[in-house]
Formats: sequence, structure tokens, C-alpha cells
Amino acid sequence: MGHNLLKGKRGLIFGALNSSSIAWKVAERAYEEGARFILTNAPVAKRLGEVEELAKACETEVIYADATNLDDLEMLINLSLEKLGGKLDFVLHSIGMSPNVRKNIPYDNINYDNYLKTLDISALSLHKILQICRRYDAINEWGSVVALSYIASTRTLFGYNDMADAKAALESIVRSFGYIYGREKKVRINAVSQSPTITTAGSGIKGFNSLFDFSNRMSPLGNATAEECADYCITLFSDLTRKVTMQTLYHDGGFSSMGMSEEAMTQYDKSFEECD
Ligand SMILES: NC(=O)c1ccc[n+]([C@@H]2O[C@H](COP(=O)([O-])OP(=O)(O)OC[C@H]3O[C@@H](n4cnc5c(N)ncnc54)[C@H](O)[C@@H]3O)[C@@H](O)[C@H]2O)c1
Repeated sequence: MGHNLLKGKRGLIFGALNSSSIAWKVAERAYEEGARFILTNAPVAKRLGEVEELAKACETEVIYADATNLDDLEMLINLSLEKLGGKLDFVLHSIGMSPNVRKNIPYDNINYDNYLKTLDISALSLHKILQICRRYDAINEWGSVVALSYIASTRTLFGYNDMADAKAALESIVRSFGYIYGREKKVRINAVSQSPTITTAGSGIKGFNSLFDFSNRMSPLGNATAEECADYCITLFSDLTRKVTMQTLYHDGGFSSMGMSEEAMTQYDKSFEECD
């Protein structure tokens, strides 16, 4: 049920690929809360076709753009302003991809061309979006930008590979640009650090099922779902969180504050029993 939290607001949502995508859930919730927005994804997403269904359900359209390509982004942002009939109030950056992860290339024998692509797609794209938005003054005062992150930015989780470095850069861009955009235009920029979530990007990570189960057992509230993540993003787009900026906000059921839980210890003990 909607509460009109985003009534009258205009937005741009990056990263809805299929119905498991976090951005898909955010779009559904934003629509429910009265927002109007443009959906965007990389041109390759067009072939998969599903995002058009979401656009229909949300009474909007998809503008395809590669978030690493400055010309594409310039076109996207200007066309979005035109189609929405005014400046943006919120932007969701829900973009992540590592060719090294995809190809199972380990961190200690990494392919550097792929590494640069990971950083460009998963981190620099946020900088590019913000720089172009600022150039065209595309975001209203008190507008809100949210980028999705993961705790591997600050803690080592085996298998997360170069995406960990990308998330560290992403969170730093949130702070650095958050200062500039906040000071000048009162635009707030935050990262939401989400629990492992079963999506196309998530399931590509080596050992994802173990990671998912581990953090679920460790978190007092359990892993946060994509739907719950969408709810949280809506609050950050709303006027109820106007002084929150430059933060990495953990949306993880408490995982980030835990060291060891009873549930995880029970499971760990079982593995010792098997060894005896
Ligand atoms: N799934 C998880 O476990 C998890 C946990 C924490 C954070 N995140 C983050 O959430 C975000 C969304 O991922 P998701 O889990 O919903 O998976 P997803 O695969 O559904 O979304 C990733 C999106 O990035 C898009 N993308 C890739 N390259 C692009 C490009 N060049 N230009 C534009 N778009 C491009 C993809 O098309 C896709 O829509 C990512 O930043 C991811 O790292 C995911």
C-alpha cells in the first residue's frame, strides 16, 4: 500500500533487468508511492526484453544507455528531463558487473582490462552520472541519489573479487560528490549497503549461496530482501530524510555489527562434529 511518499516527484532508475533486480522492486515501489520516472539500462538489456514489461506496468518508458558512455548519459539525462517535464528529484544507481567474476578469473591472477571495466561499470558510472547531472543542473534542490553497495567495500569476503574494490570506490564517490553537490545544490547522495540478494548480479559471485546463508545466520533480523531494500530506498528518496547525505547506510539485518551469532556457531560446530 502506498503512502504518497513520492507524490509529484520525478526520477531516473538505473539497473532494472528482470523481476529479481533490486531496481525493479524500487521502480514498483516508487510507482506505488506516486512518483513518475524513466527507466534505463544498458542497450544489451533490450534484447532480454523484460524491462519493457516493467515500464508498461509503471506507465513509463525505457531509455537505453550505457552508463559508462558519456554521450549516452548526456542523451539520457536531457531526454529524461524533457519527457518528465522538469528536473529530477531522485536517481537510483543500481549497476554492477565484473567481467572477472563472470569469467571466474581469480583476484590474484586478474585480467586488468576486465578490472578496469569492473571499476568503470560499477563505480565510475556513478561519478559520470553525477557530473553530467550537475553540468545540466538536472537535479532539484533536496534531490536524492542512492547507489547500491555491499559490505565487501570495507571487509574482505572471499570470492567477491574486484567488485570489492569497485564498491570501495563507489562509496568514496558518494562522499566526495556528496560534499560538492550538497554544498552547492543541497542534493544528497548515499550508498545503501544491502544484504546478499538473489539476483543476476548477486548469484554470479563465487560461493554466493554460502555467503547468503552465512550472513542470514549472522544477522539478528536475517538478510534483507530486495523488496525491503526498495522500501528503504523509497524513504531515502522521500522528504523524510532530507539531512542524510554522504553515508553508507547498512541495510543488512544487523550483519555489519556482528562478530559471531549463536546460529552461525551452531552450524560451525556441526562441521567440527563431521571432522571427529
Ligand atoms: N544481489 C546482491 O547480493 C547485492 C548485494 C549488495 C549490493 N548489490 C548491488 O545492487 C546493484 C544491483 O544489482 P542486482 O543485485 O539488482 O543485480 P542485477 O543484475 O539485476 O542488476 C545489475 C544491473 O546493472 C546493469 N548494468 C550492467 N552494466 C551496465 C552498463 N554498462 N550500463 C548500464 N547498466 C548496466 C545490468 O543490466 C543490470 O540491470 C549492484 O550495484 C549490486 O552490486 C547487490
